[in-house]
Amino acid sequence: MKAEEALRQGFREKFKGVQVALTFRDVFILPGKAEVEPSEVDVRTRVTKIHRLNVPFVSSPMDTVTESDMGIALARHGGLGVIHRNCAVDEQVQMVKKVKRAEALIIRDVITVSPEDKVGQVLALMEKHNISGLPVVEGTKLVGIVTGRDVRFAQPSLLVKQVMTKDVARAKEGTSIEEAQRLLRDHKIEKLPIVNEAGELSGLITFKDILLRGKYPDAARDENGQLLCAAAVSPFDLERAKKLDEYADILVTDVSHFHNANVFKATKKLMSEVSAEIIVGNIGTYEAAEDAITELERVSGFRVGIGSGSICTTTEVTKAGSPTLFATAQVADAVTKYGSDIPIIADGGIRSPGDVAIALAAGASAVMIGNLFARCQESPGTLITIGGRYYKQYRGMGSQTARAKRYSLDRYSMPSKGVPEGVEGWVPYKGEASIVLDELVSGLKASMGYAGAKSIQELWWKGKLAALSPSGAEEARPHDILLPSETQERI
Ligand code: XMP
Repeated sequence: MKAEEALRQGFREKFKGVQVALTFRDVFILPGKAEVEPSEVDVRTRVTKIHRLNVPFVSSPMDTVTESDMGIALARHGGLGVIHRNCAVDEQVQMVKKVKRAEALIIRDVITVSPEDKVGQVLALMEKHNISGLPVVEGTKLVGIVTGRDVRFAQPSLLVKQVMTKDVARAKEGTSIEEAQRLLRDHKIEKLPIVNEAGELSGLITFKDILLRGKYPDAARDENGQLLCAAAVSPFDLERAKKLDEYADILVTDVSHFHNANVFKATKKLMSEVSAEIIVGNIGTYEAAEDAITELERVSGFRVGIGSGSICTTTEVTKAGSPTLFATAQVADAVTKYGSDIPIIADGGIRSPGDVAIALAAGASAVMIGNLFARCQESPGTLITIGGRYYKQYRGMGSQTARAKRYSLDRYSMPSKGVPEGVEGWVPYKGEASIVLDELVSGLKASMGYAGAKSIQELWWKGKLAALSPSGAEEARPHDILLPSETQERI
């Protein structure tokens, strides 16, 4: 709309038919006819155009939520971690590499040593990468293997060729996992080098990886059997994005207001320079999604919601925002209108499995969570006790202390604004991420069971939402009873 036309319509017009931006606390799911039991509900989803998850949970790229440990834990249980960027480029790259190296069907970027290297160097490599055996290569040809046992008590000045096992069991490229497992067992070894016709090392299969595959059958993996890993980037930091592109499966733009001409321009460039899939956001309106769909060529996913995060003060400070639930429906309609298959990740404000179900019913394919994952053992930071209870630190990336590190400053505009848009504090400790995920998945399945939806796609059209009145909201909680948590004498 042009300026004169808008002014002609008058300022009073702005208040007519003003939209109601409903949030998670305003609505609930109406029960629908169910043909499946909650245990039979399928919560598998797509997080990008290509990548699939077995549970619809993604962790926020925040420095009190997602580093390697969280990335590994979530991917092992079928979700996805987005490694934060509030650190030097190399640190972020190392974190992504750690997730990618945690498991593999066949390790392709094998760490090797040469026969002329010293035992001391081998020990240092083993410690640095937390591995117990290294193939020995002359050029690219496999000539032996050194394990912890070979070097642990050897003089650091000895040469690898003096301590290595020369007659090393090996398998040909194309060997099946079952055959590899048999070879590992028959030779009583932990690592099986893979060689090509010329005897050159082309990969490594480890017993640990085979065990982990069995232990985490629902893990989110890439085609090489490695855990999926995403990383946050600023569209303005091309150098960082290019380095991460070598290892991360997915890049996630980390911008609080993506619908901005400069951000679009920088993202176009980013998309032409990297090969990873790119999730863009955050956006909060139909128009933002429409512009992204029509102007950007390689959008692999939308990160949606502005100002709903539990640590956000954006809306309080700026009076601008788009609550996650409202934003999700806006973007979902644009995606449908353009016949696009871009998945939506509803980001911020999720406090319960029911919130997840509502976000999915509003058109999301997955949700992004900071607060609930910050409570886990795998989030960065140590436990603290307050009043005899355990807590972990949790802070907004726009909070004063997160901004002090400066790496994420541009999330909150370019050049950065002077006002903090987040707070910091503590969240109660919950234990391992798998516990939180189990609760979320069981609760989500129960909600979907009530909605009568056996899959997330079915929830999109079967999930009917209704608004809660203030008295309805009160009735929906336990009432007229004194709960143990409300008594003076807490246990
Ligand atoms: P939850 O509700 O899970 O939300 O804590 C996490 C999401 O909040 C966003 N985020 C912020 N938003 N100021 C904001 O306005 C901040 O300082 C901030 N830090 C994180 C982000 O989208 C995250 O995924």
